[in-house]
Amino acid sequence: MNQNAIRDVVEVRNVSHFFDNPESGSIPVLSKLSLRIRQQEFVSIVGPSGAGKSTLFNIISGLLTPSEGSVLVHGQDIRQSTGHVGYMMQKDLLFPWRTVIENVGLGLEIKGAAKSKRKELGRDYLRRYGLESFADAYPSTLSGGMRQRVAFIRTLVTNPDIILLDEPFSALDYQTRLVLEEEILSVLREQGKTVVLVTHDIGEAIAMSDRVVVMSKRPGTVKQIYDVGLAALHGSALRARADHRYNDFFEAIWKDLDIQIGREA
Ligand SMILES: Nc1ncnc2c1ncn2[C@@H]1O[C@H](COP(=O)(O)OP(=O)(O)OP(=O)(O)O)[C@@H](O)[C@H]1O
Ligand SMILES: [Mg+2]
Repeated sequence: MNQNAIRDVVEVRNVSHFFDNPESGSIPVLSKLSLRIRQQEFVSIVGPSGAGKSTLFNIISGLLTPSEGSVLVHGQDIRQSTGHVGYMMQKDLLFPWRTVIENVGLGLEIKGAAKSKRKELGRDYLRRYGLESFADAYPSTLSGGMRQRVAFIRTLVTNPDIILLDEPFSALDYQTRLVLEEEILSVLREQGKTVVLVTHDIGEAIAMSDRVVVMSKRPGTVKQIYDVGLAALHGSALRARADHRYNDFFEAIWKDLDIQIGREA
């Protein structure tokens, strides 16, 4: 085994997926997709709507078994591996009938942690992210940015070493988005997490990532990979946006995505 293979924490091997549709038969969603993610890397995936990005996350997290191919996490088939992957889903809504701390403790509850342990760990995390005073509040009383922070904490609290984030900032206003990008980037780097982020925002992908993967339209496969590394170089997503190479990456990725202005992407 070579050095790179040892440091790959996620390996997507030749994955294809089809969904059965009663009217149109079998729909190919992913086609022979291969991708390796290295330890402590921050990788973003951009691609047209319907390219199969969320489906890919469902497969990497082990929620969905691919029609063909396999996913290895730390060299082990995902179906045999547990606890390594934390997944913040695209519509990762908080349960409105649960308080913030009860929402945060959900993953721990599923893992069978005792209530006292859930409360203690939950409070500890909320304190770290400045949300302790909202522990007993209901999600409806929080701002959009706070709700996303709570959903993010819920993903972190079980301490996975690989984090999948599916459009975590898409519902937020631009300013809140920039603040959260910076905050989440520094937390994840500090804790040495491996991160894969799906986003429609090309600028966000460039500003946050070591590498950006561009997917083709459905059936999705890897079209191009860019070594960006501006956030690591500058230690900040905001400062990465000011780097002169930011625009070059933007232009190249925009071309790859082949977005037709005036037509739906
Ligand atoms: N459970 C399912 N059953 C049938 N078809 C599905 C299912 N889930 C997704 N699809 C279809 O698979 C394709 C890919 O969906 P997916 O949600 O993975 O795309 P996406 O790249 O995440 O899109 P978006 O950027 O809009 O979130 C779409 O055509 C979708 O309608
Ligand atoms: Mg999606």
